[in-house]
Amino acid sequence: MLGRTGPITAPPATQTTGSGDTQLGRNLYPPAPDMRSSATQQMSDGELFYIIENGIRLSGMPAWASGHGEEDSWKLVHFIRHLPQLSFSEQKEMENLNPKSPAEFEEEKEEENFLKGEDSHEKKPPHHH
Ligand code: HEM
Repeated sequence: MLGRTGPITAPPATQTTGSGDTQLGRNLYPPAPDMRSSATQQMSDGELFYIIENGIRLSGMPAWASGHGEEDSWKLVHFIRHLPQLSFSEQKEMENLNPKSPAEFEEEKEEENFLKGEDSHEKKPPHHH
């Protein structure tokens, strides 16, 4: 899903799975809620929509109303509804879409190479003609 702040897959304050356990989400006061919890899931679609459009006063939750249509916010409501039933492959797919630092990117590449049986640190033998 394309978020208004970039290619997000979950509200950035709430982590890939919507748990809220990120550095940003944890350090807000009040903390960003777990999107999968019954407290959030018991809210009506209209309530979730209203919060996304208007934000929550005196908290870290900004208003996201764009001024050009409400479709994106309804999509986010559906997305939040789906979070408690994420499959493993959906979770992996979303993790891959999260922004990565160059260091994280490098680490992941090395991990992949290692799993493929290649040691990325190993020096290639010198090339002879
Ligand atoms: C049921 C309550 C809430 C819902 C449904 C909700 C939903 C969302 C959604 C859908 C976004 C992403 C919007 C987009 O990118 O287009 C968002 C972003 C955000 N929310 Fe909430 N939120 C809730 C409560 C809160 C609370 C209580 C806080 C903080 C105390 C919070 C902090 C944030 C922050 C900081 C962002 C933006 C992060 C960034 O772009 O870096 N939210 N929220």
